[in-house]
Amino acid sequence: MVDRAEVFRKALDDARAGGFTVGLVPTMGALHAGHRALVRRSAAECSTTAVTVFVNPLQFGPGEDLASYPRDLQGDLATAGAAGAGLVFTPVDVDLWPAGPPATSVTVAGVSEGLDGTSRPGHFAGVATVVATLFNLAGPCRAYFGEKDFQQLAVVRRLAADLSFPVEVVGCPTVREPDGLACSSRNTCLSAEERAAAPILYRALREAAEAVASGGHDAERVRGVLRDRIATEPLAVLDYADVVDTATLAPLDRVSGDVRLLVAARIGGTRLIDNLGVTA
Ligand code: PAJ
Repeated sequence: MVDRAEVFRKALDDARAGGFTVGLVPTMGALHAGHRALVRRSAAECSTTAVTVFVNPLQFGPGEDLASYPRDLQGDLATAGAAGAGLVFTPVDVDLWPAGPPATSVTVAGVSEGLDGTSRPGHFAGVATVVATLFNLAGPCRAYFGEKDFQQLAVVRRLAADLSFPVEVVGCPTVREPDGLACSSRNTCLSAEERAAAPILYRALREAAEAVASGGHDAERVRGVLRDRIATEPLAVLDYADVVDTATLAPLDRVSGDVRLLVAARIGGTRLIDNLGVTA
């Protein structure tokens, strides 16, 4: 475990100097099976895997759950190590930004707009700024991100391409609980009753995907399937349900080719997101 930025940077520089390839798995901790899959994939493809655990204040808006975000550093160290991480970087704010909160903010236009970009203003600039910081410290590597956060993955891909980071961004499939709920650190915030209600997001996505597979090309009707299905769950309050182009995340009128269905909903006090790819 290292918490000083220069020690983290040097460890990865030394690994590359020794001929090792580096895999990077940025996280906010409270590691679960989804994170574990990223670490395992990195460990299978790279000779050294570094996991970062940092609850990034820049990506939380006022009134969001920064203070109550789940934290479990001891568990994270054990989970990351068991999944194949050779190094876990656990900075606090001042380790990443010794001069205080960064005056520099990285904005990725286009893909950051709409969906979570609308619901959580400033969120993706916060993500892009911390990811740029981590990429600069890590140096040349493969960096593993989950499709669970599909818009975030698009933002990070564009960030790496636009700013010529020597980083290959690797997208990894969403890991789910047996009942379909996407694994998420925030699932631990759900009461038993809310946990039982939470798979409604995935069920709605599956139902909408079936509507597309059986010839539904009208995107508004597919959005309607998502909305109606989520409305059947009294504990769920819909934030958005959309059908977008896989590459640009632009909302579609007509469903054709590779499209992505995305939903966000509040279950009790917990905001959950999920998405599914479908080819029409
Ligand atoms: P966090 O929510 O901890 O997620 C870390 C990584 O794990 C992200 O790439 C996310 O997409 C992936 N992940 C989460 N749940 C997953 C699941 N069920 N299946 C597959 N992958 C999953 O995302 C963040 O942290 C932060 O925004 C971060 C990128 C670290 C920047 O602060």
